Amino acid sequence: MKDIYILGIETSCDETSASVVKNGKEDLGTVVLSQMDIHKDYGGVVPEIASRHHVENITLVIEETLLKAKIKSENVSAVAVTYGPGLVGSLLIGLQAAKTLSLVWNKPLIAVHHIVGHIYANNLETELKFPLVALVVSGGHTDLVYMKDYYHFETIGSTLDDAVGETYDKVAKVMGLDYPGGPIVDSLAFKGEDTYSLPIPLDDESYNFSFSGLKSAVINLINKEKNKNQKIINENLACSFQNRVIKILTKKTMRLLAERKVNNLILAGGVSANKGLREEFIKLCEEKNVNLKLPLLKYCTDNATMIATAGYFLYKKNKFSDLSLNPETNISLERSMKLEK
Ligand code: KG4
Ligand code: ZN
Repeated sequence: MKDIYILGIETSCDETSASVVKNGKEDLGTVVLSQMDIHKDYGGVVPEIASRHHVENITLVIEETLLKAKIKSENVSAVAVTYGPGLVGSLLIGLQAAKTLSLVWNKPLIAVHHIVGHIYANNLETELKFPLVALVVSGGHTDLVYMKDYYHFETIGSTLDDAVGETYDKVAKVMGLDYPGGPIVDSLAFKGEDTYSLPIPLDDESYNFSFSGLKSAVINLINKEKNKNQKIINENLACSFQNRVIKILTKKTMRLLAERKVNNLILAGGVSANKGLREEFIKLCEEKNVNLKLPLLKYCTDNATMIATAGYFLYKKNKFSDLSLNPETNISLERSMKLEK
């Protein structure tokens, strides 16, 4: 069978990334240029600044990726690009680059949903096994997704308010920590103890999540201790907060696996890099005989390798887009599946 080489492009938020993936599983070369240090000063991503930096960097990032992957444009089979969800100005830059290359190189254009990319990051190295449950935990998403087969998504539960990564970042901010706060809170949590009383958020029979109450509880606790002139022990607060997050994510995920009699689980998105979450899922899945797949740490946060990987499966189904492709800032997995039909 002929080898397929997909050039992936990802610019949905604050990472400018390109990657060439062979046959949907082999990363030949990836460049991820993070703007984290620029947005740090503002305590979060500033959309206008993000898109300006994408404009400055996209051409260089693509050029360097092709050199790294040692591939010539004529050998690229197709160009895959994130078209949503994400920041409109950022998405537009990646889309424009992908459309231009598709036109000039005369190669098919493939539209990839960002979350599908995160899910397919688990197909690199070893292939996915179905049916599976995907727990998607990122800066913008907290979803439980059931997949009976390749490219078949059913969202079973979602967050009703803040996403889990967003909650980590906001809690870190009130604790006086840098952006993005997720990795910092994660490492602090391992140095502390669970001493603070915080609620387990939306601990009910549904498969939905809610993190705004937990975030408010952390803010109230900090204010209360301040009023009493008591010093907050950041390590202990990080540990107490992280334990509540892990508790609810693992509880609902393990219940869904049991209810649907599914024994394949994957984690996806930036928060799947969380050490505490990974360790707890490894333990629980061993106990319950569930096959757990965790993305390699370099593929947890935003990257174009996952977009090229997901693009390969659309390539095989001949799902191509034309040059009228527009950004979709808030598109669900189910709607993206319909658009591809
Ligand atoms: O998937 P991602 O790169 O971007 C989105 O699609 O949103 O996820 C970024 C999020 C940020 O909120 C960041 O704080 C969080 O992932 N994150 C973590 C960890 N590493 C990244 N959260 C908790 N623990 C971590 N180790
Ligand atoms: Zn992401």
